[in-house]
Amino acid sequence: MKKFRQDFWWGASSSAFQIEGAWNEAGKGESIADYNSFKHSGEQADTKVASDFYHHYQSDIKLMKQMGMKVYRFSIAWTRIIPDGDGAINQSGIDFYNRVIDECLANEIIPFVTLYHFDLPLALVKKYQGWASRDCVSAFRRYAQVCFKAFGDRVQNWQVINEQNLMVRVNERMNMTAVPAAQVEQVRAQMDYHMFLACAYVMNDCHQLVVNGKIGPAISSTMTYPISDKPLDVWAAKMNDNFKTNYALEMYCFGKYPGYYEYFLRQQGIYPQTMADDSKVLQAAKPDFIAVNYYRTLAAEYLPADAEHPVGQRVSDIDFDLYGYFKIKKNVHLKATEYGAQIDPLGLRLVLNEYYQKYRLPMIITENGLGTVDELTADGKIHDQYRIDYLKAHIAACYDAIQDGVELFGYCPWSVMDILSSHQGFKKRYGFIYVDRTDFNLKQLRRIPKDSFYWYQKVIQNNGLE
Ligand code: BG6
Repeated sequence: MKKFRQDFWWGASSSAFQIEGAWNEAGKGESIADYNSFKHSGEQADTKVASDFYHHYQSDIKLMKQMGMKVYRFSIAWTRIIPDGDGAINQSGIDFYNRVIDECLANEIIPFVTLYHFDLPLALVKKYQGWASRDCVSAFRRYAQVCFKAFGDRVQNWQVINEQNLMVRVNERMNMTAVPAAQVEQVRAQMDYHMFLACAYVMNDCHQLVVNGKIGPAISSTMTYPISDKPLDVWAAKMNDNFKTNYALEMYCFGKYPGYYEYFLRQQGIYPQTMADDSKVLQAAKPDFIAVNYYRTLAAEYLPADAEHPVGQRVSDIDFDLYGYFKIKKNVHLKATEYGAQIDPLGLRLVLNEYYQKYRLPMIITENGLGTVDELTADGKIHDQYRIDYLKAHIAACYDAIQDGVELFGYCPWSVMDILSSHQGFKKRYGFIYVDRTDFNLKQLRRIPKDSFYWYQKVIQNNGLE
């Protein structure tokens, strides 16, 4: 038996643009996530309907209750609350989230809210290139304050930005596609810095405005193995973790870039513009926990720079290679999903230990799951034993990490129901609840609990694994 503590937060996750639909209903403004999804409308589903949670939230939350969820991690769409990002407040947006929050509470589910999950208001991009401008920091701060004031009487637990450390690597998500190539890295570094500053302001504000408010960053974790025992490969693997995740955790927890990162930014001539009092704000911000998103591990080898590829040249985006530092390799010891994610439960135990030893903060898993094709079989069910196997092994890894001494207080896999996957629409599915639609045929959007739903229900009932 692997039993968890009595008050363990068993839950599941989603994000606004991936489930809500109703993309322009009741005054909602367009977000970058909408805009980018419309660019790919011919190839896959877009955000217009998604899982249509906006119109199904009551019955969906009933299903969450039926599954036994103690907590629901979801995000608020900034563009529902302030459609153009920094202008008038849209009461209908506030009303919608009031209904969602109240429905959760009526079903004894704790709402655990992300303020911003990849969906910056498009108007701010048009106005001043989004996070490239310091004005975006004030706009986000104001939006967060509106949320704290509107919902803080019922929502005590918040995450600021989902996976800033991953989002900032992807030019399309940051809408940098029009930035001249020579300026891309400089703009990226500036955007990243502004998001860190915004996070710090918002963490401080939460502590002031929300009674018993708790807030932390939600990071995309990175766990990298060296491809060999050559010292340079070991260093490369560490630098991959450092450049993709650890530098961000240092900033959130200590309000300062670590030496290796500051050195890199200065050497590349892309150290962001800062203002005199920023460091005070950054260092005053104290996260209450770290929300960890974990899907897979990576392997890396050293990648020397050469005449054609100077130090600091990046190749690709999410899992980028960096000349002078690291190159991502396939780990031949691990199985991968059909979409290439290397499945590695032990990596979760390792990464939780590493973060706990470094930051000594409580942690919660806010994303972990298997993205794959699911088939609705003739008996009208989805027999997703592969997802059960994946989740079981990762829950066991959480248990082991807790025995190691890690303070882990919850587990919210991705995703509560099928969502719009950023790259594969509704082909790739993650949910416990099947949403019966395809990329181009909405059908009835029927909800069908998968085998994993009933399995997870038992896990929650038993408070752990048998
Ligand atoms: C995480 C994001 O990085 O990965 C989610 O926070 C996303 O929004 C998830 O859905 C899975 O990625 P994908 O591309 O398979 O949807």
